[in-house]
Amino acid sequence: MRLGILTGGGDCPGLNAVIRAAVVRSIRTYESQIVGFLDGWVGVLEGHTRELSLDSISGILPRGGTVLGTSRVDPARREGGIEAVRDAVRIFGLNGLIVCGGEGTLSGAADLSDAGIPIIGVPKTIDNDVRGTDYSFGFDTALGTVVHAIDAVHSTAEAHDRVIVVEVMGRSVGWIAICSALAGGGDVVVAPEAPMNVTQVCDAIRVRRARGRKFSIVVIAEGAEMAPEPDGTKLEIPHRTDEFGRPRYGGIGNVLAHTIEQRLGMETRTVTLGYVQRGGTPSAFDRLLGTRMGIHAVDLAARSEFGRMVSLQGTSVTSVPLAVVREGPRPVDENMLEAYRAFFG
Ligand code: F6P
Repeated sequence: MRLGILTGGGDCPGLNAVIRAAVVRSIRTYESQIVGFLDGWVGVLEGHTRELSLDSISGILPRGGTVLGTSRVDPARREGGIEAVRDAVRIFGLNGLIVCGGEGTLSGAADLSDAGIPIIGVPKTIDNDVRGTDYSFGFDTALGTVVHAIDAVHSTAEAHDRVIVVEVMGRSVGWIAICSALAGGGDVVVAPEAPMNVTQVCDAIRVRRARGRKFSIVVIAEGAEMAPEPDGTKLEIPHRTDEFGRPRYGGIGNVLAHTIEQRLGMETRTVTLGYVQRGGTPSAFDRLLGTRMGIHAVDLAARSEFGRMVSLQGTSVTSVPLAVVREGPRPVDENMLEAYRAFFG
């Protein structure tokens, strides 16, 4: 057996654990070769590879990012892209291709799989929004980073009696926002699954202050929209789009902070955590999940079970049809929202 592996889309902690585990499983269990494609699909389309050996993966487990590099290129949406990938699979003599990606990369991979290309998907993203898996690796590390940041701003907010708005990533879902507000003890959280208007945010701050709290922490998801005010107006936050037409968020925290300060007359500051959330060394949970997923991906390929995505269900690593990712991003589930409502509802 000869396999290929690539990492596509935004990077996240835990990718190197997958690469390492896939190499170890291929070589030690199946005596197979595995080739790494550089910079996501660009490496497949342009033939840029790195032969992976037990030596070459030594020391990569604790490293963030991906030793293979990544890009947001999607061959399924390029003229002749599907044929180019099919050719590469033939030229490199691959029995299968392991694609580590988020919702965007894996949706493209599902199209390639439909075209008969032997693909196994591995879900990665700090946003935790890939359907078909309870958790994606990367999320736990990002959540830990955000909770540390919330802990840190607590003391300075308290010292100055300030409101601090913490803007977190998550694109169109609120996993990072809601879970970090719960784990970090925020006062208010605004997320796509938990919309609020400015009046409600200010009322929540007032209520907590009336109970004796001298400061306030507001967590807001970068992709949240403010709900309409009672008079029908709405705080609009314009955002740009990237070269692939996906929204590029960032800035909602500043706009909300400014509005809170104007309405409540309370000193308000913003922290935009941005790419800090995506970087750094993976948590133990993400290293372990990435490792188990990498092993499972190779096992699926060895059984020729292509067109599947590795998945965590409960505490078990298993697989689901890759096509599930086409149903769009996975919002925060009802079970987690119950905890949200207990504190913020
Ligand atoms: O990886 C997902 C994500 O972190 C989103 O939360 C964020 O909006 C986006 O990536 C930013 O990606 P880019 O690297 O394209 O700026």
